[in-house]
Amino acid sequence: MKAISTERYGDPEVLTYTDLPDPKVAPDSVLIRVRAAGVNPVDWKALAGYLDPMLNVHFPLIPGWDVAGVVEAVGVDVPEYEVGDEVIGYVRKDDLQHGTYAELVAAPVRTLARKPASLSWQQAAGLPLAGLTAYQAADRVGAEAGETALVHAAAGGVGSLGVQILVARGLRVIGTASERNHDFLRSLGAEPVTYGDGLADRVRALAPDGVDVALDFVGGGVVDVSQELLKDRGRVASIADGEVKEKGGHLVWVRPDSDRLTALGALADAGKLTVAVDAVYPLSEAPEALRRSMAGRARGKIVLEVS
Ligand SMILES: NC(=O)c1ccc[n+]([C@@H]2O[C@H](COP(=O)([O-])OP(=O)(O)OC[C@H]3O[C@@H](n4cnc5c(N)ncnc54)[C@H](OP(=O)(O)O)[C@@H]3O)[C@@H](O)[C@H]2O)c1
Repeated sequence: MKAISTERYGDPEVLTYTDLPDPKVAPDSVLIRVRAAGVNPVDWKALAGYLDPMLNVHFPLIPGWDVAGVVEAVGVDVPEYEVGDEVIGYVRKDDLQHGTYAELVAAPVRTLARKPASLSWQQAAGLPLAGLTAYQAADRVGAEAGETALVHAAAGGVGSLGVQILVARGLRVIGTASERNHDFLRSLGAEPVTYGDGLADRVRALAPDGVDVALDFVGGGVVDVSQELLKDRGRVASIADGEVKEKGGHLVWVRPDSDRLTALGALADAGKLTVAVDAVYPLSEAPEALRRSMAGRARGKIVLEVS
C-alpha cells in the first residue's frame, strides 16, 4: 500500500510517500480502505517525538489517528462489521506505528463507529478525534442544559465541534476566536469574543454573573482567566494545559470511544452538528497539511484525501 511514513522523529520534512506492506488484521480489528484521514495537531507533535515519554513508538512510523473509510476485511471475531461497511474511527492503538495516513489501516472495533450518512468522507474523517475530545471534555465538566459555557479556541478543530455539542445540549456558549472567525462562530451557535488582553472583561460584558463551565482547547494560560470567570461551583477542563489539575480543574486526554462516536454521528445525522473543513490535501502532500496545522489557524478540520 501507499503510505506516508518516517524512519525518525523530526519536522514534516522527514516524511516520505512510499510503499509499505499492507497491515495485518488482529482478531478484534477490521481492515479499512481509507477514503480520508483527519489531520490533528497531535500528529505533528508525535512526529516531533513529544509523545515518546508516554507511548512506545516503532519505525517506520505512519502518522495519523483519524479515519473515514470502507471495511475491506474483518478479523476472525468481529460480529459488529461486514466487508463494505462505511466506518469512522479515532484509531489510537496502544503503540504508535501503523497510523491512518495510508491507503489501508487496521483498526480495533473499540475505536470505530458507523459513518454518519449526512457527512462527506472528508467531513467524516475530521470528526472522530476532535469530536470525541470535545464530547469527553463536556462530559468531564458535567455540562448541562441551561448553563453558560466559555469555549477557548472555538474556531479550531476541537472548538468548532465543542460549540455544536454544547449548543445541542442546550447550553449558552461564548467562544473565543480572532475577529475573522466571529461570523463562523455565530453560524455554529456561539457568541464570539476576541481572545487576548481584556478577555475577562469582554466575557463579563456578555455574562455578568460568570460562566458555569470553561473548556480550554488552546492552552497557554487560559485556565487562570477561566477560573476568574467561573461562578461558584463552576468547572473547568483543559486539553492543552498540564497544570490544570493542580489548579483544581480536569485534564482530558481523548480516549477511543465507540459509543460517543456513534452519538456524534447521530448528532450530525439529526442536523445538529456539522464538520467545517478548513483545507483538503492529497495523501502525498501530508507534509503540507501538517505545516498548515502547525500554523495554528485552522477553521475547523484539515483533511487528507486518500482514495
Ligand atoms: N488532550 C487531548 O486529548 C487533545 C485532543 C485534541 C487536541 N488537543 C490539543 O488541543 C489544541 C487544539 O487542538 P485543535 O485540533 O482544535 O487545534 P487547531 O484546529 O489547530 O486550532 C486552531 C484554532 O486555534 C485558534 N487559536 C489559536 N490561538 C488561540 C488563542 N490564543 N485563543 C483562542 N483561539 C486560538 C485559532 O483561531 P484564530 O485563527 O481565530 O486565532 C484556530 O481556529 C492543540 O494543542 C492540540 O494538540 C489535545
